[in-house]
Amino acid sequence: MHEILEQLEDKLKKASTQEDLKQLKSFFLGKSGLLTKSFKELGKLTQEERIEKGRILNDLKQLITEKIEDKLQNIKTFQKQQELNEDLDLFLDGKSNNIGSIHPVNLVIREISDIFLSMGFGVEDGPEVELDLYNFELLNVPKNHPARDMQDTFYIDENRLLRTQTSGVQVRTMLKKKPPLMFIAPGRVYRRDSDLTHSPMFHQIEGLAVDKNIRFSDLKGVLEAFLNEFFGKTKVRFRPSYFPFTEPSAEVDIGCVICGGKGCRVCSNTGYLEVLGCGMVHRNVLKNVDYEGYRGFAFGLGVERFAMLKYGIDNIRLMFENDLRFLEQFSNSFYPKGLV
Ligand code: DAH
Repeated sequence: MHEILEQLEDKLKKASTQEDLKQLKSFFLGKSGLLTKSFKELGKLTQEERIEKGRILNDLKQLITEKIEDKLQNIKTFQKQQELNEDLDLFLDGKSNNIGSIHPVNLVIREISDIFLSMGFGVEDGPEVELDLYNFELLNVPKNHPARDMQDTFYIDENRLLRTQTSGVQVRTMLKKKPPLMFIAPGRVYRRDSDLTHSPMFHQIEGLAVDKNIRFSDLKGVLEAFLNEFFGKTKVRFRPSYFPFTEPSAEVDIGCVICGGKGCRVCSNTGYLEVLGCGMVHRNVLKNVDYEGYRGFAFGLGVERFAMLKYGIDNIRLMFENDLRFLEQFSNSFYPKGLV
């Protein structure tokens, strides 16, 4: 029995194919196999010996069958792995995950913020659900003032509304802090307005600088530097205008980004595009926040408009539809510096 087992182990070790196993099986259990012969010889023995030896032979047969079956499974698994390995191209590129991109509105807010931060401006914030007091009243727009018609307002009740402009952050901040002051305030604003270039919710960036000797030329210098930085070298033009919270007031134009100033449909053949409103802070506003003796300049711009002009987008709704085909176009414009 020991001899047979030793032979079995030896042969199992050497067998590496299914064919080897077949031969191995017939060597022990085949018609003239080692074990089969021993079974045949049982007849020559006494009954007692036959029972004893028969039991041993049966155990041996079972053991051999199991061991062969085990080895067969091993060989099959090994073969399968080899087949798989043949299909495995270790030099194929891995699948990369799509990573999100920065929304053009945020991209522009970051770019603009970076420019003003580099000039020494800070950043302030205010609530989107705002009091009439800050959105209008303290900004020199009393109730029934015709200037309220300039902005169609979502009112919540008599005193509360969705802010129509970020200008409220001017007075909120001046009431909180002492001059001198220099900050921008980016944020959402709301108006009852909707077409190709207007959305009921959009973003503005407000700017305010207050000190003892601020002049209109400071305003011009800051805005010209900013616009040349943001749009690349561009013509800049100041036009007299009206805002209730500034006096004098101006609107600022840049050379048309589409036609370069020749005149086209986008700039209504003027060669210029209006990009922001600004002015010297109205004395009434300064008085409302106890800033007498100080002077300041202020400005406000629409973020979506800046994004549309910079990236050549002709429909503001694209900004809010979350269409990946649109958003993915900004995936390369990862802006590493900015505010996080
Ligand atoms: N708040 C104005 C608007 O929404 C924009 C604006 C104009 C802001 C002149 C200013 C400013 O601070 O001085 O139309």
